[in-house]
Amino acid sequence: MTLDKFWAFIVQVSDKRTMAMPASTKLRTQAGIVGAGPAGLILSHLLHLEGIDSIVIEARARKHVEERLRAGVLEQGTVDLLNESGVGERLRREGLVHRGIELRFNCRSHRIDMHELTGGRTITVYSQHELVKDLIRARIEAGGQIFFEAGQIEIHDIASESPRITLQHGGSHREITCDFIGGCDGSHGVCRASIPAAALRCYEKVYAFGWLGILAAAPPASQELIYSNHERGFALLSMRTPQLSRVYLQCRPDEDLAAWPDGRIWEELQRRFETSEGFRLNEGPILQKGVTPMRSFVTEPMQYGRLFLAGDAAHIVPPTGAKGLNLAAADVRILAHAITAWYRSGATDLLARYSEICLRRVWRAQHFSWWMTSMLHRSECGDGFDYRRQLAELEHVTTSRAAATSLAENYTGLPFTLPGEQL
Ligand code: FAD
Ligand code: DHB
Repeated sequence: MTLDKFWAFIVQVSDKRTMAMPASTKLRTQAGIVGAGPAGLILSHLLHLEGIDSIVIEARARKHVEERLRAGVLEQGTVDLLNESGVGERLRREGLVHRGIELRFNCRSHRIDMHELTGGRTITVYSQHELVKDLIRARIEAGGQIFFEAGQIEIHDIASESPRITLQHGGSHREITCDFIGGCDGSHGVCRASIPAAALRCYEKVYAFGWLGILAAAPPASQELIYSNHERGFALLSMRTPQLSRVYLQCRPDEDLAAWPDGRIWEELQRRFETSEGFRLNEGPILQKGVTPMRSFVTEPMQYGRLFLAGDAAHIVPPTGAKGLNLAAADVRILAHAITAWYRSGATDLLARYSEICLRRVWRAQHFSWWMTSMLHRSECGDGFDYRRQLAELEHVTTSRAAATSLAENYTGLPFTLPGEQL
């Protein structure tokens, strides 16, 4: 081989190796946020308003997170937070403001006037995926970075002052060094699992039932949500728009959707919502259906070193109290304040107390969600005791002003306060 041919061969081999090796990019940001659900996106937005930059890393595609059907009920405090932070424009236009809910049992409806009982508080029905769309648009318009469809996400050095996130994105390997990591990656993410097991205590309660949820092209038969306790099992009528009903029925946690053709779903729902006045749901084509198992779960503490868990990554509630998204918003509001205080003055007290502050609200919501669940769902015990006990409780909640006020305060949500602020 001549010298020229030898060098040509070396260049060819090294070109091939460069092409085979993924390009690697090192990035630096102030907050690395894992998960583009409500928790991660609201956190990134609130930090941006304080001049703190962040990168959001999301495992799924943008289309997927923008179409994932989930929560619908926003507490007053969540709505206020979104409005005050400038992302509430469409929410104000399209959100449905509700002043009360109905509790239905023994084939009769009883209204809880939350607005009157709480001195003017309401809830707003607005789809979680619409909120996610609003937040993604706001981040992108403000120049924020969101890496969708990221793979092999790992977090490192969380006990140090420079934690890192490594990932694959767009065919290249990326390493993001930051000051803080927001662990907002939901209940099956990588963040909680990155904390040494000995540093965490987890509390869990699994329920023997789940919800079969449908979205139907049918005008909701009621302007307010109906939570129905029926001997055949719980059912909930909610909505997304004046033309779209969102309806849930209690089922087994591993229910096979194939056993639920549309006709059976409507027939079962009509029975569970029946009243002595002949109430009927409006039926229409079912656009989506899915089964959600139910559990209560809390991680304590919600932080380790420079990693802060928020939302479903730290806690799960059964959906009966409509609290999950609202807790996620409350967590990241505290976290954004704590991080801002650190950048402004080096203060570490709010950061150190992040978990303690959040967990007070989390446990309140855990109790409320468990209580609503146990009052409304059919128990499998079968001897009738639980059903009689539920009827007595529902009778009390719908006839005692004190009991109804307690439900209304919890349902519309405790005020979003920071330490030092008045409740
Ligand atoms: P998520 O929304 O789960 O977001 C986490 C994000 O992280 C996701 O986008 C996920 O793709 C991403 N991710 C996961 N793993 C990784 C990884 N390894 N790396 C990067 N990204 C990752 N709450 C209410 O407040 N009101 C309601 O009315 C209500 N109704 C509900 C009804 C149903 C049927 C269900 C299932 C839930 C309901 N919830 C409700 C709960 C609410 O939807 C959740 O609590 C909420 O989504 C939590 O937001 P999050 O951002 O913490 O987590
Ligand atoms: C919805 C979900 C809930 O969990 C709930 O308690 C009320 C309404 C909904 O999806 O609209």
